[in-house]
Amino acid sequence: MYKLIAFDAYGTLFDVYSMGQLAEELFPGHGQAFALMWRDRQIEYTRLVTMSDPNPGGSKHYLPFWELTIRSLRYVCKRMGLDLTAQNEARLMDQYAKLTGFEDSLDVLKAIKEKGIATAILSNGSREMLATVVQSNGLDPFLDKVVTIEDVRLFKTAPQAYELLLKAFPVQKKDVLFVSSNAWDALAAKWYGFDVFWVNRLGHPFEEIGEKPNFEGKSLSEVLEVI
Ligand code: LAC
Repeated sequence: MYKLIAFDAYGTLFDVYSMGQLAEELFPGHGQAFALMWRDRQIEYTRLVTMSDPNPGGSKHYLPFWELTIRSLRYVCKRMGLDLTAQNEARLMDQYAKLTGFEDSLDVLKAIKEKGIATAILSNGSREMLATVVQSNGLDPFLDKVVTIEDVRLFKTAPQAYELLLKAFPVQKKDVLFVSSNAWDALAAKWYGFDVFWVNRLGHPFEEIGEKPNFEGKSLSEVLEVI
């Protein structure tokens, strides 16, 4: 019986790939490739920052996730030869700030709370950007805490990032089910010692290293079947 269900934010509760639609409008013919490369570069920057100075006191290269998201956006536009005007940058980042949740995000959080189990987000996102997206989707009443790696200035997949959940709640590793749609995040959370639910909406194969997740489903709603 889990005491805490903790969710990744971007891609798991909030639909980052919807950025592809706006990108397609701004850069016709490039939307999907652009959105994928943007996401990859953003995550690559988090890894560079963390691995290049994995100091328990925080990486000296740390920049907030919001800033890394802008920097990766600029990189990808240069790389793909797309003209990123100040206006387009603002439109893309405004939409990023208010990403829509997946259709079942709110109902799943609500159902977990109704069972008397604690809920949290554990995200690479910076505090302010998380507060905005949580609020714009009306999720606040169903989340006990929004935990950000800003407190350790090391991004997931550093163990210090996952450890934040044990500091934020009176629970042990075995009490936590971590839910992510990012296979790398699911894998690292499992390595850390949590039970993991991988939300595999696109039917991708799991990573070829590490242990398989404890649970896998095509939607967030399936989490309710295992708790
Ligand atoms: C998050 C990103 C990495 O931590 O999905 O929310």
